[in-house]
Amino acid sequence: MSVLEINDIYKSFDDLKVLKGITLHVDEGEVVAIIGPSGGGKSTLLRCATTLTDIDSGSIKIAGIDLDYKDKKSIAAVRGKFGLVFQNFNLFPHYSVRRNITEALVSVHKKSKEEANAICDELLAKMDLSDKGDAYPCNLSGGQQQRVSIARALAASPDILFFDEPTSALDPELTAGVLNVIKELAVEKMTMVIVTHEMNFARDVADRIIFMNGGVIVEEGPAMEVINNPKHERTKAFLAGY
Ligand SMILES: Nc1ncnc2c1ncn2[C@@H]1O[C@H](COP(=O)(O)OP(=O)(O)O)[C@@H](O)[C@H]1O
Ligand SMILES: [Mg+2]
Repeated sequence: MSVLEINDIYKSFDDLKVLKGITLHVDEGEVVAIIGPSGGGKSTLLRCATTLTDIDSGSIKIAGIDLDYKDKKSIAAVRGKFGLVFQNFNLFPHYSVRRNITEALVSVHKKSKEEANAICDELLAKMDLSDKGDAYPCNLSGGQQQRVSIARALAASPDILFFDEPTSALDPELTAGVLNVIKELAVEKMTMVIVTHEMNFARDVADRIIFMNGGVIVEEGPAMEVINNPKHERTKAFLAGY
């Protein structure tokens, strides 16, 4: 079953055509990496799929729910089905780590404080942050902050996780910890769509790689094949830069 069904979506900002007919289906348990040069529309695609930007045409379905941008109920229902991790962590600076993770569980998902705290403790342990529940984001390293935002994204048991360049803001020595957490999630068969510039990671962890440029999918296929044996000239040129 496809957890994510994006069908022929188009998106322009004024005269700028950013997405020009993107179709992407992601199966349960599948890990898809999206690679490609800056400005190719990768973030816009994720933003469209995660209710942050509306589309001009086409359709998006997550966990069987049609995303209708004109219907607040549809948007709310879809929002309950995915988690999203940004490049810059996007944690609330004035909330403790624990509150960052539990806030939506209590206010949106109507969990009791006890339930929310139990989920939080489990996720903090998984992220190797058990002693950081009372810390504030500013007192954590970038890698720790990103692991908190992964914990937050996981808190409501999403059907799919989206990552937009989760390690691009991190020093190399902090990148590995975050990539390892994502690798572990892949082993657990979490369905994930990951925009990344980490080509080795994409090859090792993704089932499928999508190469996007100029608002279209230029090439896609099994991760090994796309990285080791790209077919299109544009993909070859892009990968040659790594
Ligand atoms: N909100 C916006 N308004 C106007 N232009 C935008 C907006 N968001 C993205 N763009 C433009 O869309 C193009 C694709 O951007 P983006 O999706 O961020 O690409 P990528 O993530 O692949 O680098 C770029 O030319 C960018 O300037
Ligand atoms: Mg981007």
